[in-house]
Amino acid sequence: MNSPVMQGLNLNSPAFVKNANLIAWVADMAALCKPDSIHWCDGSEDEYDRLCGKLVEGGTFKKLDPVKRPNSYLACSDPSDVARVEDRTFICSEKKEDAGPTNNWMAPAEMRATLHPLFDGCMRGRTMYVVPFSMGPLGSPIAHIGIELSDSPYVAVNMKIMTRMGKAVCDVLGVNGEFVPCVHTVGAPLEAGQQDVKWPCNKTKYIVHYPETREIWSYGSGYGGNALLGKKCFALRIASNMGRDEGWLAEHMLILGVTNPQGKKYHVAAAFPSACGKTNFAMLVPPKGFDGWKVTTIGDDIAWIKPGTDGKLYAINPEAGYFGVAPGTNNETNPNCMASLDKNVIFTNVALTDDGDVWWEGMGPAPRHAIDWQGKDWTPEIAKETGAKAAHPNSRFTVAATNNPALDPAWDDAAGVPIDAFIFGGRRSTTVPLVTEGRNWVEGVYMASTMGSETTAAITGQVGVVRRDPFAMIAFCGYNMSDYFQHWLNLGKKIGATGATLPRIFTTNWFRKGEDGKFVWPGYGENMRVLKWMIDRIEGKATGTDHLFGVSPTYEEMNWTGLDFSAEKFASVTSIDKAAWQKELELHTELFEQLAYHLPQELSETKAKIELRLAG
Ligand code: OXD
Ligand code: MN
Repeated sequence: MNSPVMQGLNLNSPAFVKNANLIAWVADMAALCKPDSIHWCDGSEDEYDRLCGKLVEGGTFKKLDPVKRPNSYLACSDPSDVARVEDRTFICSEKKEDAGPTNNWMAPAEMRATLHPLFDGCMRGRTMYVVPFSMGPLGSPIAHIGIELSDSPYVAVNMKIMTRMGKAVCDVLGVNGEFVPCVHTVGAPLEAGQQDVKWPCNKTKYIVHYPETREIWSYGSGYGGNALLGKKCFALRIASNMGRDEGWLAEHMLILGVTNPQGKKYHVAAAFPSACGKTNFAMLVPPKGFDGWKVTTIGDDIAWIKPGTDGKLYAINPEAGYFGVAPGTNNETNPNCMASLDKNVIFTNVALTDDGDVWWEGMGPAPRHAIDWQGKDWTPEIAKETGAKAAHPNSRFTVAATNNPALDPAWDDAAGVPIDAFIFGGRRSTTVPLVTEGRNWVEGVYMASTMGSETTAAITGQVGVVRRDPFAMIAFCGYNMSDYFQHWLNLGKKIGATGATLPRIFTTNWFRKGEDGKFVWPGYGENMRVLKWMIDRIEGKATGTDHLFGVSPTYEEMNWTGLDFSAEKFASVTSIDKAAWQKELELHTELFEQLAYHLPQELSETKAKIELRLAG
């Protein structure tokens, strides 16, 4: 027998763990990974403090100045482990066509055979943390539970902030509850007596999903979405499969509430590709001219959306914290976010100032000296000379949602909030207008399916190239993208058949540039003007103008109080250049060729109609 107990490892499951499947699975994984010890996380503050203390001792964390940044830490990763690794991310469905052409695929048996030797003994010399987490409010009918096993205490403390984590989750799980098993290792076992490093990881990386058995296995990285498995791996890649099978949506969307001066409240879910200002939009502060308007945050990255008994779509934020991109965040671009970062934060890969605080590009005046994210001296002069960044462009903060002054009172509501509109917004310097509403569900789904965006630092690879990012889900849809389009179309039909009002679908582009290469639209809080136009559309107060692929606002029907934005400028962010759209449609054709297997006919038909209008 090879049970962990027989190897001298005590499983030691605490009394609050009552789920026999969980205990058996942990025993199996411990037998495979061979950690020195097992720590079952209870999710208490005391546990968080102890683990942070251990991370400080081991050199992974630096404690920041307790007056300037109370109870906050800075971690700096290995320079080879700074972002999600899409080329090492796999969807291992039984059939290749079920993963589809936008995912890396390997047959499950082959992947299991590849991973088994890597995981065998991978946690030697380390502690295995058992992290029970709920994606969504505890016990919500929209929520689901996962258990992450990880040999990284950095992961354990981040999961405490990012999810509802610990004993309370085991209480909901009970004796028979189901969970998604998630195994994570940094892939750096310690030989007896070997000194650990500050950021253990492995050159070899695998981020693996088995959609049929709903399992996640992650090897070699300790960073963000590669390692905090509740986020992209569970809440998007596995949950999108669950949603397809069970008739709901797992989306890469923020959720916000917007209340007008009369107290009427709407809820909007918005999908933007990574690092396109989602957190800023989710925490938007209405600008001058919008007295009495209020925007409140339900979520900043992911939405789980299920049809309610009244036919409407109800959304929860499955997460409990924000893992946001730091550079560019400041009191102008996102004052609510800056206020959220006052205390109780884990920063990763930002710079350390001489007074024990943090700094990143775009935060405000640069310090005269800092230690950059790679531990080197940094000064504005060095930056000028060498281009060295104090903070990595994908540096992050991890902070609890409850730190957010604009948190929506319903953010933890088990029932979710009813969605009135979806927004899809790519980052495009040209071609795509500021805002367009699809004239119907299919037209909206078409625009979301064909969305393109210029890439950012949230993933490794080239920055600034336009890639198609349907629904901002290119990296996160855990099954065939065309089947996913079909799922959206089917859901629209199903809701339509109940007589319930479907949410409106809009596309936005905050990022159009002028001839001077500068952004024309001021963005940030000024996006409220676009949000208000959307609400006017919902309320039947704005007619807009019809064009090739939908309806966009006229200059006159936008609220311009407090902003000097001329009709010419407006035309330059809303105009539709036929030649550019001809090229754009060629790219849609290319995408549809790539996705030909199971591509819904409605989408090809919609494209044909746009082409006809373009030719006319
Ligand atoms: C994220 C991402 O970290 O989309 O949210 O990459
Ligand atoms: Mn994201």
